[in-house]
Amino acid sequence: MDISKLMFRDGLMEGERILVTGGGTGLGREMAEAFLKLGAEVHICGRRQGKLDQAAGELADRHGGTIVGHACDIRDPEAIHEMVDAIWRHGPLTGVVNNAAGNFISRTEDLSVNGFNAISDIVFRGSFYVTLDVGKRLIEEGRKASFLSILTTWIWNGGPFVVPSAMSKAGLNAMTQSLAVEWGRYGLRFNAIAPGLFPTDGMSARLSPGGRGGNSHDEMNPMGRHGEMHELANLAVFLMGPGADWVNGQTIAIDGGGFQAHGGNFYAALKDMGDEQWEAMRAMIKGTNAKDRAERST
Ligand code: HXC
Repeated sequence: MDISKLMFRDGLMEGERILVTGGGTGLGREMAEAFLKLGAEVHICGRRQGKLDQAAGELADRHGGTIVGHACDIRDPEAIHEMVDAIWRHGPLTGVVNNAAGNFISRTEDLSVNGFNAISDIVFRGSFYVTLDVGKRLIEEGRKASFLSILTTWIWNGGPFVVPSAMSKAGLNAMTQSLAVEWGRYGLRFNAIAPGLFPTDGMSARLSPGGRGGNSHDEMNPMGRHGEMHELANLAVFLMGPGADWVNGQTIAIDGGGFQAHGGNFYAALKDMGDEQWEAMRAMIKGTNAKDRAERST
């Protein structure tokens, strides 16, 4: 990210302690960098200790401050509880970004139950487990906080060829709207961002393996491009930082108008693929999954 394009003053987020799930890579790392740069203490979690150490080391070198990596698979509620205990020993969180995700393109008829669960256990269940564990502590201690979930525009119109992701993220949208109301009285607010394409390594390898597939929307976008990381980071800071405390229960798209123009999903790009192409895509995606798995510490 071009950090000079952050819209906010240094020190804006001093006193904030924010957990970003999936913060070692991709969009999570970018948001973590922005929060750190603006003075927040940042906690990132993920399944690969190496990626967390690398991100925390590089970002601390660049911006100073405190950023801590926690190896934690959010599919495991016990592991979440231990991580949040460790964070709480030094003080409460003031914010959580539910960013961690898993996804891959597939014809739905090619999915197994395990394939569905691999995605929904991370996105749908895992994000809820994190929200519940942190939320209970905040309610008990009477503290305010902000929760932000990273969704997609598919929550509004469905995601053909990414059905487990679309279903899971739509569920998190319902969580955002529900808890904004139910837990608003405790001073806890819930918002979400629905990004269009912000290409990352993890996403491109699974949604556009080999460069073909879902990640080819730039020319269809009204603004002729994909998103830039500082644009996402600015919106995340606005929603997580002090000063926007009355924004609650909102899901905000950031996609250059792609959703309005062409629905924002992958139907057009993938509908004509045949068996052989799907087989090749699946092989590439599984290769990426295996490589990532080998780097995992949890
Ligand atoms: C069909 C597949 C498959 C594929 C995996 N599976 N890839 N099925 N087609 N391409 C099946 C496997 O065969 C297995 O089922 C089951 O899924 C679990 O596979 P594992 O590889 O063992 O899972 P695991 O190692 O736990 O990995 C989880 C993952 C992986 C979700 C599959 O992709 C992951 O860790 N992703 C994290 C990063 C990521 O996805 N980032 C992109 C986020 S993009 P069987 O039946 O064989 O046991 C995003 C939104 C983008 O969220 C929005 C853009 C607009």
